[in-house]
Parts: sequence; C-alpha cells; structure tokens
Amino acid sequence: KGVQVFAPATVANLVCGFDVLGMALQQPQDVMTMRLRKEPGIVISHADGYDLPVEPEKNVAGASLLALMEEYSEKVGFEVIIDKRIKPGSGLGSSAASSAGAVVGANYLLGNPFSKEDLVRFAMNGEKVASGVKHADNIAPCIYGGVTLIQSIFPLNIVQLTAPPMYVTVVHPQIEVRTSDARQILRKEVQLKAAIKQWGNIAGLVAGFLKNDYDLIGRSLEDVIIEPVRSILIPGFDEVKKKSKEAGALGGGISGSGPSIFMLSKEEYVAKGVEDVMIDVYTRLGIEFKTYVTMIN
Ligand code: HSE
Repeated sequence: KGVQVFAPATVANLVCGFDVLGMALQQPQDVMTMRLRKEPGIVISHADGYDLPVEPEKNVAGASLLALMEEYSEKVGFEVIIDKRIKPGSGLGSSAASSAGAVVGANYLLGNPFSKEDLVRFAMNGEKVASGVKHADNIAPCIYGGVTLIQSIFPLNIVQLTAPPMYVTVVHPQIEVRTSDARQILRKEVQLKAAIKQWGNIAGLVAGFLKNDYDLIGRSLEDVIIEPVRSILIPGFDEVKKKSKEAGALGGGISGSGPSIFMLSKEEYVAKGVEDVMIDVYTRLGIEFKTYVTMIN
C-alpha cells in the first residue's frame, strides 16, 4: 500500500503572532511518496538532490515518524521518498512540510488511528531536530490548512481560523538565515508598552480574519517586538515592505524566521504588482531570489 502526500509551504508568525499564528500556502508544496514496509523501521531517501541526513533520528520526517510509532500499538515500518520543492532554510516551513507530510502519510497508511492534534504533536519532534525547539506554527497550518492559532503549546490547543480570500506574494532572497540564529538574537524581555501594542495587533488580526475585515487585517499586520530585531538580517526588507504597501498590499513582513518576506493582498493584480516591487528591489541589490504569487491554502 502506498500514498503520495503534498505538503504545503507555510508562513509562521503572520507578523505579530510570533510562535502562535501561521497559514498554509497553495504553492510551493513538497511531494512525499510513502509505503508500508513488511519489516519494522524507517527508510528515507531524497528524490530532490538535497544533501539532508537520512538517518531517522536526524531527519525531520524520521524523527516525526519515530514519535508516531512510539504511540502506535503494533510494530510498523515505512519507506519515505522526499521530493523537496520548498527550499530548506527559506522561512517557508520546509522542515515542517517534511515533518507534517510524513505523519499525515503514515496515519493514512495505518487507517487513520490518530487525530490531527496527535499528528501535530508528533511532527513537532521534527521541528525540534531542525531548530532545537518544538514549535507548531508551521506544522499546524500545514496539517489543518488555512490560518491556525496555537492557543497553547503545552498542552497543545490548536484553533482553526476562517479568513477571507487573500493573495500572498512571497520573495525568497537566496541568503542564509538559520532559525536557531534568528531566535538567539531576540531579546528575552519585552517592555509592557510594546507588549500592549503587540497583543492589540494579534487580537486585531484574528478579529480581522474572522470578520473578513481587510482594513483591520492590514492595520494589525505590525510587529513591534520581533521584526525590528530580525529584519536587520534581511537586506532590502524595509524597502520591500514600504513599496509593497504603496503598491496596495494590505501588509506583511518576515515569513517565519526569514529570509523570505510575504505580503498579503486583496486582489490578484495588486499581488502581482507587489511581485514586481520585490523583483525590482532584489535585482537592484544584486541578490538572487525567487518569487511566488499564491493564495492561502
Ligand atoms: N515561530 C518560529 C520563529 C518559526 O519565528 O522562530 C520558525 O520557522
């Protein structure tokens, strides 16, 4: 028995919601082919040419599957072939896609014994391998789709949010920002004044999604805590953001821990205009890049 899994890219944080908000994109998607094996154990290979570890404990898909197998009543084995189309280190949830895809595929092959929340819990072990910390803001939208809120991580509580149709323009400047570094540089304390602004924005963003209020969404896409520190790692960030908004984008910011930048737009022609802005900025800076115009998945 075999299955092919399409695991979408995700944008974690959604600007103000560090570690608690995330959304799934329609493109790009990793493709994973999985089979049950007759013998127990996990065999992983890459069909994409990426030089990623294939030992189950060191591989994000493998670590997630090991967590799943620990809670399954019988001894089982899986073969996993990963074709990564989401570049590792892009800030688009590449490791989450492998982690989530693996446990979604395994659950299907076993006849769906686990809930979605179980699957998020298992896949968080992959994130631990990738970045040293368990966070679910890429995993949850990858598994649930759409926009998700992690109300609490221990114990895990995921809330699926509705959102109005929106276009997402993404630019991935081909520079390296490691999630672990991008977390390390953050200050551990937050000023009360900044915290008030931030939780106002998170609440505003969630309310904007639920009420289909594009203006409220746009006003709430502001991060006074994380972005000022992290954006220093991304050349062109301020210019992309400023000019994208001038081109009509609702707002946006760093995708996950970067270096990708995402912008939300109500209309497709605006999203394409935002792509032109991104192309212009990175061409002038002489930095290689890739862009996507897609929608929330
Ligand atoms: N919320 C995480 C961070 C996502 O911003 O560090 C990392 O992909």
